[in-house]
Amino acid sequence: MNVKEYLQKELPLINLVLEEELKGLHPSVRQVAEYTLSAGGKRLRPLLTILMGRALGYTDKNLYPLACALEFLHSATLMHDDILDNAHLRRGKKSAHLVFGLTQTVLAGDGLLALANMIVARYNLPPLTHCVAEAILKTASGEIEEIHWLRNPNLTEDTYLQIIEGKTAFLIQAACLCGAIIANSDEYMQDKARVYGLNLGIAFQLVDDALDYTSVSAISGKPLGGDLREGKLTLPLILYLKKLDEDKRKNLLSKIAENNLSEEEIEEVITSIQEMGLAEKVRQEAQVFLQKSEKALVNFPDTLEKEILKKILGLVLSRDK
Ligand code: IPE
Ligand code: IPE
Ligand code: MG
Ligand code: MG
Repeated sequence: MNVKEYLQKELPLINLVLEEELKGLHPSVRQVAEYTLSAGGKRLRPLLTILMGRALGYTDKNLYPLACALEFLHSATLMHDDILDNAHLRRGKKSAHLVFGLTQTVLAGDGLLALANMIVARYNLPPLTHCVAEAILKTASGEIEEIHWLRNPNLTEDTYLQIIEGKTAFLIQAACLCGAIIANSDEYMQDKARVYGLNLGIAFQLVDDALDYTSVSAISGKPLGGDLREGKLTLPLILYLKKLDEDKRKNLLSKIAENNLSEEEIEEVITSIQEMGLAEKVRQEAQVFLQKSEKALVNFPDTLEKEILKKILGLVLSRDK
């Protein structure tokens, strides 16, 4: 069985539970949340919770609300992220804030965040609550850090990695760790679930940053070249800057800092990054992290879920959306 087939089998129940749980949201913002959640999305985080839970021996249906809580958290970050990034497209549709306005969208994100916490608290498992609370704090800190460094030419590759770990990888780590916790795994296996998720999460964001320069919005469902327009110095751009001679580099960095790149200049940077194969370079870096994820699975019992967790690693690298 491949990942797609496994997901296809799980999707009806994931989507049903998402729909049911959304009823816990105040009616005035429910339609905003439904809009973003029903627009699609890969459902990677809930899938990871389900896979990790089952891979470590938990087979009960009670896994679904927990998995859905992670999708709610993720969707809340997307709604807030699109406001912060001034992004107009999400999951192939107009971003929620352009349809419902800033107020309703901020509130819907807040509501989803609160709802997710409530769902997790129902399990009455302190380690689970701790895991999710920590992931929320780290995700928020990552976004805050990213905004802090926006348009700043002194951003290093190390700080960039720290930012993507924060804004993306910790929530993916939590999706995996939640599965391990509910399966009542020992510390050793919990740690393996963490390592798998964290490295997968870093690789996932690296590839996202590569796709930002290479994947047309008809496929990705997000704007092409958005990061450059938003003033984000992600790895493809960092690698590109390194290849420029000093004058050109200084010129580009100062235009990014002052937010006065023309549309032609933006197009030129995007095309150059594509032609120089820098997205491919970023994928190679992602591969290093995916290998760590794969190693973390070594002592997992042989199950279908372990196989799917392995196959997801290949998909993260090759995905175009
Ligand atoms: C988008 O996440 C935000 C990032 C962390 C890169 P996904 O690529 O998982 O978004 P959906 O859920 O499939 O829309
Ligand atoms: C995603 O960062 C991180 C969170 C949503 C917390 P991006 O800004 O790169 O995500 P996209 O590209 O808008 O999905
Ligand atoms: Mg964004
Ligand atoms: Mg992005």
